[in-house]
This record gives sequence, C-alpha cells and structure tokens, in this order.
Amino acid sequence: MTDINNIKEKSLKAREIVISIEHLKKTLGDYDILKDINLKVYRGESLIILGKSGSGKSVTLKCIVGLMMADAGKVNVLGEEVPNLSFNELQDLRKKVGFIFQSGALYDSMSVRENLEFPLVRHEKLTQDEIEKRIRKVLSNVGLEESLDMMPSELSGGMRKRIGLARTLILNPEIMLYDEPTTGLDPATSREISELILKMQDKFKVTSVIVTHDISCAKLTANRIVVLRDGVFAAEGSFDELKKSGDDFVKGFFEDIF
Ligand SMILES: Nc1ncnc2c1ncn2[C@@H]1O[C@H](COP(=O)(O)OP(=O)(O)OP(=O)(O)O)[C@@H](O)[C@H]1O
Ligand SMILES: [Mg+2]
Repeated sequence: MTDINNIKEKSLKAREIVISIEHLKKTLGDYDILKDINLKVYRGESLIILGKSGSGKSVTLKCIVGLMMADAGKVNVLGEEVPNLSFNELQDLRKKVGFIFQSGALYDSMSVRENLEFPLVRHEKLTQDEIEKRIRKVLSNVGLEESLDMMPSELSGGMRKRIGLARTLILNPEIMLYDEPTTGLDPATSREISELILKMQDKFKVTSVIVTHDISCAKLTANRIVVLRDGVFAAEGSFDELKKSGDDFVKGFFEDIF
C-alpha cells in the first residue's frame, strides 16, 4: 500500500489543467442528459467519475474526445477547443487521448499482435522492426508477453481488459479515459486492473479519468472523485471526504466498502 500511496502523492503535485469543461450541455432524444457540466482535470491526476447507470458518464467521456459534440458549452482538451477541430485535428488529439471503451472491444478476428499493430499502423509511420518492439514492450508493461499470438477468444475477461489497455497505451497518450475498466471482473482481477492503471499512470505520467461503479477501484486509484447527478457534478472530493458525506445519494456509492 505504501507504494500506491507514494504514487498518489507524486501525482497530486502537478496542477497544469489538461481538460477544462465549462457549462457543457448535451441533449439526447427528449432528455437533457448533461445540463451544466463543469470540470477541470489536472496533469498527472487520477479523477474518478461516479454516477448511476444512464446518468451520462459515457456521454461525458465521448464529449471529451469528440465522439459526441456538446450542444453548448466549452470542452478544451490539451489546449484545443474540441468542437472547433477539423477531422484531422481530432485524429491528432485522439492519439494523445486514449479511450478505453466500456465494451473493451478487441477485434475478434485479429490476434493480439494484430490488435496492437492496428493503432500503430493507423497513427504512426514505423518500420516493421519498430512496430514489433513497441508491441513487445507494451505487452510486457501489462504483463502479458505470452499472449502475443493468441486470439481474443482464447483470453480471459481480465486478459482482454489488459490487452485493451495495451492497445491504448501503445500510442503513448498523455490522457487515458477509462470507461468502467473493471466491470464484469472478479474482485481479485479487478484489483489487478486497478493496480495496473495506477502503475501505468506513474510509469508513463499519464492523466487518468476513470468512470466506474467499482468503489474498490475508486478507492485504489482516485486522487479526486466527482459524482454525476441529474446532469451536473453534484459532489467533489477525495475518497475519504466523499465517504463521510452527509448526502444519502453520495453515501450510497460507498456502501459496499469496509
Ligand atoms: N447515441 C445516443 N443516442 C441517444 N441516446 C443516447 C445515446 N447515447 C447515450 N444515450 C442516452 O444517454 C443517457 C446516458 O447514457 P450514458 O451511456 O452516458 O450513461 P452512463 O452513465 O455511462 O451509464 P452506464 O453506467 O450504464 O454505462 C442514457 O439514457 C442513454 O440512453
Ligand atoms: Mg457508460
């Protein structure tokens, strides 16, 4: 645990803003999903977004990478106003901002090697030798060197999550957005993934924004937590601060933890 606390301490020192959201609104169908989202994310920190199912957590992440566009408000990522970016500029931004999707989808018809090769070929001009080195390095970082020639169907749920993480890390992003990285995993495997997120954050100095329902993951990885409720961030604080919250809605997220 000391190791993990040291990592969190170091991350907290940096205060450069890498994501700034002001008065973000997003309506989908008949619903005002995001009503007035305001958020600053600092370089090197690990920010957790908690919220009920359907509250707009994934929509928030998608607005950050421009997969969805805000109806109103400002979304600035690494100094760029996301809604103003051209297609090519958005592609460049997505190289710096890795998105681990909720489904964690790997391409099932491609081997692990091909899954990892895909983003490199798409975003970078590298020789076959350099590609091979990057693939082996990232696999060793997630502790799965032996899976190089396996197919996704041969991997366990936890291994698939690791490979999904590797596929995003291989482009050396400055920011990682995780959409429920531990959902569907047993507690021990969830913990391994949470520890991996924290170690990657320390090793590569990435900023992490993590959407999760898994309060153990939040406890382990969070420098700061925000709680999404009725289209706004209704509470913000450290894990210990929010755990002691007098608000029943906020307290509800912490019930499973001892
Ligand atoms: N492309 C879309 N078109 C229409 N409605 C959508 C779209 N994407 C999301 N929604 C709606 O927006 C709301 C918020 O969705 P979102 O996926 O952000 O929820 P969430 O907080 O991530 O939930 P969960 O915890 O279940 O993943 C939901 O009611 C959903 O049905
Ligand atoms: Mg979601």
